[in-house]
Amino acid sequence: MPDTRWWPRSTCYQIYVRSFADSDGDGVGDLAGVTSRLPYLAELGVDAVWLTPFYSSPQADHGYDVSDYCDVDPLFGTLADFDALLTQAHGLALKVMVDIVPNHSSDEHVWFKAALAAAPGSRERARYLFRDGRGAGGAEPPNNWQSNFGGPAWTRVPDGQWYLHLFDSGQPDFDWTNPEVGDEFERVLRFWLDRGVDGFRIDVAHGMVKADGLPDLTAEQLAAEGGELLETLGEAARPFWDQPGTHDIYRRWHSVLADYDGDRMAIAEAWVGDAEAMARYLRPDELQQAFNFHWLMAPWSAQALREVVEHTFRATRPVGAWPTWVLSNHDVVRAASRLGDGAVGPARARAGLLAMLALPGSTYLYQGEELGLPQVDVAPEDRQDPEFRNGRGVGRDGCRVPLPWTTADNGTAHGFSPPGAADPWLPQPAGWGQWSAQAQEGDASSTLAFVRTALRLRREMLDSLSDEVQLHAVDDDALVIRREGSTGAGGLVCVLNCGATAVTLASLGLDAADVLIATSADAVADAALQPNTAAWFTVR
Ligand code: GLC
Ligand code: MG
Repeated sequence: MPDTRWWPRSTCYQIYVRSFADSDGDGVGDLAGVTSRLPYLAELGVDAVWLTPFYSSPQADHGYDVSDYCDVDPLFGTLADFDALLTQAHGLALKVMVDIVPNHSSDEHVWFKAALAAAPGSRERARYLFRDGRGAGGAEPPNNWQSNFGGPAWTRVPDGQWYLHLFDSGQPDFDWTNPEVGDEFERVLRFWLDRGVDGFRIDVAHGMVKADGLPDLTAEQLAAEGGELLETLGEAARPFWDQPGTHDIYRRWHSVLADYDGDRMAIAEAWVGDAEAMARYLRPDELQQAFNFHWLMAPWSAQALREVVEHTFRATRPVGAWPTWVLSNHDVVRAASRLGDGAVGPARARAGLLAMLALPGSTYLYQGEELGLPQVDVAPEDRQDPEFRNGRGVGRDGCRVPLPWTTADNGTAHGFSPPGAADPWLPQPAGWGQWSAQAQEGDASSTLAFVRTALRLRREMLDSLSDEVQLHAVDDDALVIRREGSTGAGGLVCVLNCGATAVTLASLGLDAADVLIATSADAVADAALQPNTAAWFTVR
């Protein structure tokens, strides 16, 4: 029986709402802005969109600090705007996923305000992780955990107690051992499911359960903190990451989703140690997907990428799960800058994208990836990210600069805002218009044209390609991904050249005449695939 669920082989486009499109001219992207650009996304050829948090929020972490999970912040619009977006998206055959933030709320959530107003030991405080401090007068934090944004993970309140926040002090962590918390999140999930959303992206999905007694980090673990955010997030052995009890939460969420029409899903943002740990979130009675961050973090080497793919399938197949592939999101340096300097980074970003689109499973694209946007070097005085404000590196603003839609600025921030609008919340750098959708429209060599073609071909082949994949790596240079076609249809071979020299097609049994798509016009030249490129070949 064919699998008719929408998500196993989908391409989902992540919309960082603040930076996508601003309809009301306040310089901040909003829901009506998203709605106005949905036809562009339908034409791009994606199947779904994921909206980053647009709920009521004081914006301490740009919406990942939620003060009301069932309402829209006026900055982004109204619930009616959300409903209009959803209707419009469904009319264009686009699924809609919303971001759920269950590890922590905002410090302006009614529960947290009630907790502050109540006494230590009260029922109100028991929804969060309040503890007495250590040392004389309890003046030291209850343990040595560090916030992911830098500094201690504890903040002291006037009566002397401390509360835990794995992120900003404006993001107090819930106590998930308190049944009230689980009940409240079931209500939140149902609120959005009843409205018609197709799925959820679960923020910090591996963090909700903390080890009993909130034990100190060891000296070794502590020394490793404060490094790159991603390195620590990827560190499995921490008393606040990937605790076994987390899975009970997802068993409950699984049955909530199953109460609907059988086609709603959730994807975990779980930065866990390896593919086996990831696959535990994907057991048949848990979540449908988890971001495969091992693909994103792999070094540029055919051998390393091959190992990630093999490891992913080895871990996900036994639990019957579908893998996902992701190269970029709103937390990491844009692939076009991260993967190499000068022209190398953009070339590799296209090649990495083409390779992941050739793999069975679901792909996640981040807004602007289809334009080949580079990371922006945001000036220190313009930076907004709490990670920067808390002293942990330059922060993530550089991948969050408002999108350019038009070549000319025309007082509209390159079409991001209407004429006469306030400045965009993050300044766009000089020359931003050259990356715009308008500038790339009609240019066959553009990244936009490339992504559109790749997504169209992927859709056309989806039903005829086997979900079995054969891989091999030619030395450290080329990764070859091969999928057979069903009877009568051609199969697909994707070759990704990570090496420094061209790979001859004959050595792979391929022919330049069979190229379906390549990352650039000169990627296949002299019967060879050039370095930092990829191509798809049809095989009979
Ligand atoms: C996730 C989000 C990130 C946010 C953090 C805290 O990692 O992707 O943007 O800062 O959670 O909610
Ligand atoms: Mg706006």
